[in-house]
Amino acid sequence: MAKKLFVKTYGCQMNVYDSARMADVMAPHGYEPIDTVEGADLVILNTCHIREKATEKVYSELGRLRQNKDQAAREGRRMLIGVAGCVAQAEGDEIVRRAPMVDLVFGPQTYHRLPEMVVRALDRTGGRGAGVVDTDFPAEDKFDFLPEESAERGASAFLSIQEGCDKFCTFCVVPYTRGAEFSRPARAVLDEARRMIANGASEITLLGQNVNAYHGAGLDDRDWGLGRLIRHLAELPGLERIRYTTSHPRDMDADLIAAHGEVPALMPFLHLPVQSGSDRVLEAMNRKHSADDFRRIVDRLRAVRPDLALSSDFIVGFPGEGDAEFVETLRLIREVTFAQAYSFKYSARPGTPAASVEDQIPDQVKSDRLQALQQILNAQQVAFNRSKIGSVQPVLFDRKSHKPGQLIGRGPWMQSVHAEAPERLLGHLIDVRIEDGHANSLSGTVLRHDPDASEIRQTGLPPSVTHPLPPAAE
Ligand code: SAH
Ligand code: SF4
Ligand code: F3S
Repeated sequence: MAKKLFVKTYGCQMNVYDSARMADVMAPHGYEPIDTVEGADLVILNTCHIREKATEKVYSELGRLRQNKDQAAREGRRMLIGVAGCVAQAEGDEIVRRAPMVDLVFGPQTYHRLPEMVVRALDRTGGRGAGVVDTDFPAEDKFDFLPEESAERGASAFLSIQEGCDKFCTFCVVPYTRGAEFSRPARAVLDEARRMIANGASEITLLGQNVNAYHGAGLDDRDWGLGRLIRHLAELPGLERIRYTTSHPRDMDADLIAAHGEVPALMPFLHLPVQSGSDRVLEAMNRKHSADDFRRIVDRLRAVRPDLALSSDFIVGFPGEGDAEFVETLRLIREVTFAQAYSFKYSARPGTPAASVEDQIPDQVKSDRLQALQQILNAQQVAFNRSKIGSVQPVLFDRKSHKPGQLIGRGPWMQSVHAEAPERLLGHLIDVRIEDGHANSLSGTVLRHDPDASEIRQTGLPPSVTHPLPPAAE
C-alpha cells in the first residue's frame, strides 16, 4: 500500500519549491502526497527562520504533531516527523533536544538524501534519542540528484535558479541557513522550464534568495546574467509569462533593466525590497545601496516599462532607527509608490550582527511605526487596484474560488482576479474586464474564451496585441 507524505510549508517561495521537490524525491519510494496530517506516515515541516515568530510557529506545530504521532502509535502505525528548511539548518540537533519526537532534521541542501534518511529513521528502534540529523552543505549539488519527473501540475510554476546569499545584511539569517550563493547552469534551467511547460505551465516564476545575482554557466560556456537567461526562456514555445523573485537593488544591472522593456513575456510587476528610506539605516543594514540608488533604479525601470508596478519589503525599528530616519522611509514610499508591499518589525535573530547592537528599539515604537507605514502602503495598494477598474487584462486562471461558478487567476500585476467562468478555463489566459478593485483583489467579467485566442498568444506576440478591445485609460 502506498505510504502517505504530508509536507507543511512555511516561509518563502523557495520553500514552496523545495517542498514540491521533496514529494518528487519520495514518489519513487512509494510515498504519495496528501494535504492533511491524518493518516500520514511521514510529516515534514519545511520551516522558516527569518523572524522569531516564524521559528516559534514550528515549535507550536511540533507540539500538536506529537498528539498525532501518539494517536498513530495507538493505532499501531508509525508516523515519522521531519523538520526541514531554515530552522532545521540553523538549529540542527537542538530541535531534537527540544522536541524529542522529531525523527529527522535536514537542511535545504540535503533533502535529495531524504529516502536514505527515512530508511535510517525507520531502522531506529525507539522514538526517543537523537534523530537522523543531516544539515551539511554537501559538496555535491542536490539538483544533480533530484528526479526529473515531477508530479506538479498547474498553469503557474516556480523554478529555482539560484540559491544562497553572500550579501550578509546585518539583520538576516539567510546567508547562514542557505549558504553561499550558487547559480544553476542555464541548460538545467531551460530543461526544467521545458518540462514544466509540458506539464501545463504557461507562467514560470524564477526563484532565488538573490535571484538577480544569477550568474550561471550559459549555453555558450560563458556566465549568463538573469537578463540573458530571461531572453532565452522567453523563446520557449508555450511560455507566456515570466516573473522572478526576490531581487536585490544592487543586482539590477543594465541588461536586466533593458529586458523589462524588450521581453513582452516578462511581466510588469517587480518585487524589489528596499527595507528603509534612510541612508544611515541602509548603511547599518549593510545593504550596499542608498535610498537614491533605489529611486534611480525605479526610474530606469519605469522609463523602459512605464506600466511597471512595484512591490517591496520594509523593516521598521531596525536598531538605531530614529524618528527622522523613519520619516525618510515614509517619504520614499510616497515618492516611489508601491502596488503592494510586505512590512515587518525588526526581529533580532541570534547570530546576526544587528542582534547584538545596543540601540534596540522598544516594541511599542516598532508597532506604532509599522502601523503608520502600513496605512500608507495599504492606501497605495487600494489606489493601485482601483486604477485598474475599466481595463481589460489577460488573467491566468489557476484555481477555483470557494464561490461556485467562479475562478481565480492572476493578472499581469499579480493581483488576484475573481470572475464567473467555466472550469474548463482553468490553466488558460483569458481577457477579463475589471469591474471592481478591492484591498487585496480585483473582480471582473470574462470577455471571451475562444480557443483561438490562446493560440495567437503562443506565437509570442505581446498579450496587448491580441486584445480585441483597447485597455481603457488608467
Ligand atoms: N533576499 C531578499 C529577502 C529575503 S527575506 C532581499 O534581499 O531583500 C524577506 C524579507 O524579510 C526581507 O526583505 C526583510 O524585509 C525581512 N526580514 C529579514 N530579516 C528580518 C529580520 N531580522 N527582522 C524583520 N524582518 C526581516
Ligand atoms: Fe538576507 Fe540581505 Fe541576503 Fe536578502 S540580500 S537574503 S536580506 S542577507
Ligand atoms: Fe525563511 Fe529560509 Fe525563505 S528563513 S524566508 S524559508 S530562505
